[in-house]
Amino acid sequence: MDKNLILEVRDLKQHFRINDRLTIKAIDGMTFGIRQGEVFGLVGESGCGKSTFARAVTGIYRPTEGEIFYRGALVSGKKADANAVRQRQIEMQTVFQDSAAALNPRMTVEEIILEPFRILPNRPDAQTQQAMLRQMMENVGMAPSFLQKHPGEISGGQRQRVAIARSLITDPAFVVADEPVASLDISIQAQIISLFQHVQKEHGFTFLLIAHDLSVVRFICDRVGVMLHGKLVEMAPTKELFSNPLHPYTQALLSAIHVPDPVYERNKKILEYDTKTPLGGTFEEIAKDHWLLK
Ligand SMILES: Nc1ncnc2c1ncn2[C@@H]1O[C@H](COP(=O)(O)OP(=O)(O)OP(=O)(O)O)[C@@H](O)[C@H]1O
Ligand SMILES: [Mg+2]
Repeated sequence: MDKNLILEVRDLKQHFRINDRLTIKAIDGMTFGIRQGEVFGLVGESGCGKSTFARAVTGIYRPTEGEIFYRGALVSGKKADANAVRQRQIEMQTVFQDSAAALNPRMTVEEIILEPFRILPNRPDAQTQQAMLRQMMENVGMAPSFLQKHPGEISGGQRQRVAIARSLITDPAFVVADEPVASLDISIQAQIISLFQHVQKEHGFTFLLIAHDLSVVRFICDRVGVMLHGKLVEMAPTKELFSNPLHPYTQALLSAIHVPDPVYERNKKILEYDTKTPLGGTFEEIAKDHWLLK
């Protein structure tokens, strides 16, 4: 086993039995690893199993088959190493597509963002937590006046930003973000992706970023895995994947990116796998107007 791998899956399968005749093979045999400190992008069309993968590796689901290792120790199945499971729980923070909707309606924004500190063995004192909280509010573009509000009193976009603040506040070792900005306004998307990138560079956490938007992936990921029907069909360093995609599905995904180049635009053909129009080049255009690309 590669000692640099923080997360590894071997022949992972996650099947959902709907009834006697129907089983959905959401994950159907994935084997790969994510290296310590790596920014790994997972892409693929809607329904290919990305969210299921995120839920499996964070321990929400019990895999149907296969194994998941965290820092080299088994964290799935009956023989899971309890210490490693606990370590994963402490070190891994998640933001899901629907995180905003899942916030506890009875807690204030402040309580929600500070909650992950509660399970930390070595948590900073209350004053330090407050300073971190204020900084994080600023980073996600929310005024301190939101701190005493409840999720029901703020917009969906603001709730998602609270979920993101919560995922980053403890300086986690591993962040799993499943389309974390899909529900946000385009200008906020760029700001939040820049924030993830900024915090990642500063603290070096391992980052699994699940995205539809290939231009976001291209912008911040070291390596990209392309999923199709519950399987990885291609995995490569980002530059390599974008310059020389090998699998036809990857080629199709890439052909759907909007590239702001008139000659390229004219010659570009959208291949048949295209399902949605990604935000494309607009992301980088917007990001340029923000603080990160200065
Ligand atoms: N808990 C579940 N029970 C039954 N089927 C499920 C469950 N979760 C996911 N599925 C099915 O598994 C497949 C993969 O779903 P998943 O949500 O992982 O896809 P995805 O790649 O995240 O899609 P999207 O890009 O739309 O978020 C889909 O066919 C979905 O309907
Ligand atoms: Mg999903």
